[in-house]
Amino acid sequence: MQYKRMPIEIESPEQMGYDRIRNNLSESSYTDAMLRDIGDLSPVLKDLVLCYGSHAGHEGLRELIVKDNALLIKEDVLLTMGAAAGLFIIATTLLEPGDEMVVIRPNYATNLETPRAIGARLHYIDLRFEEGFSLDLRAVEKAITARTKYISVTTPHNPTGVCLSHEELQTLTALAKAHHIHLLVDETYRDMVFGKPLPLAATYGDNVISISSLSKTYGLPGLRMGWIICRNQHLMETFLAAKEQIHICGSPLDEEVAFRYMQQRETHFQRITRDIREKFRIVKTWMEGQDDLEWVEPAGGCVCFPRMKRPEQKDVDGFHRLLLEKYSTYTGRGHWFEMPDHYMRIGFGWPAVDKLEEGLKSITECLRASGQK
Ligand SMILES: Cc1ncc(COP(=O)(O)O)c(C=O)c1O
Repeated sequence: MQYKRMPIEIESPEQMGYDRIRNNLSESSYTDAMLRDIGDLSPVLKDLVLCYGSHAGHEGLRELIVKDNALLIKEDVLLTMGAAAGLFIIATTLLEPGDEMVVIRPNYATNLETPRAIGARLHYIDLRFEEGFSLDLRAVEKAITARTKYISVTTPHNPTGVCLSHEELQTLTALAKAHHIHLLVDETYRDMVFGKPLPLAATYGDNVISISSLSKTYGLPGLRMGWIICRNQHLMETFLAAKEQIHICGSPLDEEVAFRYMQQRETHFQRITRDIREKFRIVKTWMEGQDDLEWVEPAGGCVCFPRMKRPEQKDVDGFHRLLLEKYSTYTGRGHWFEMPDHYMRIGFGWPAVDKLEEGLKSITECLRASGQK
């Protein structure tokens, strides 16, 4: 493995120091929850046995994850340390050095970096602003070779918030099936769509592997609670072997807290959805008044990926520096996603409304102030 640190992690707000940033518009999750939001857990936690837990993960939690899905059972679910660890397990299971994969770009960095660290060959499907960041299915098909092991897509997409349709997922599943390969769907933002969520991706076919977590929609990244869902039991057994070699099982403490949270999921979800809608309305209204920015309006998630108009006339680097140093406002720079820095990811779900509004106003002012090169 050839590990390389990713800019999105090196420059993440937690690594920079949260105290340096007043208006943090760089997060890709909903506002961080607190333990007390789940109620008084002390009676449960004080008697919790801190043993090695079930290797596949807390049974009740796995049941809740696939609840209401006639096609899925808890045996189709493997808990992982965040979606990030799930992605690592999947890539290291499916890829050998020299193998190929087809992956969309931009993307959440781990979807690209782990396959690279393995020494795989990546065929990128570049999503273009001018095409509304839509996925060209014919390009996906053309990129498949005899050495391709899987197709990797993310929906709702980070950093653009663009979503695949039911038909597109069906087509991708059939395409993967026809080539005897897998389809990985990173659906970490699945619950956070503005309309009705698509079915869990693993229900589309037994060659589909879906990945998700509690980090984004529910603002629980500190629990490190994610999961892989797949109906191919042979593959699931190999994923379990990988998990056992990395960390045997998950933390019973994290799993118990996650289980209690999921029992109340509906209540939290309604509150979060209302809040996200309001924050999205604020961003949308703000975008309508921007002369220096343009965007592809997101259809889900809690991030958007606008870009500067006429970047050649701007001091792009100076803009990002000034935004942090003078306005104490932070966004995700384009290069976090292997895109030019006149793109920026704005996370609107994490900050409180007043900080979101102040941050957006700062971007407008800073764009004016950073002016000519
Ligand atoms: C699309 C996507 N997948 C996976 C992850 C990893 O999240 P976690 O490991 O916290 O579940 C992220 C985090 O930003 C993400 O945006």
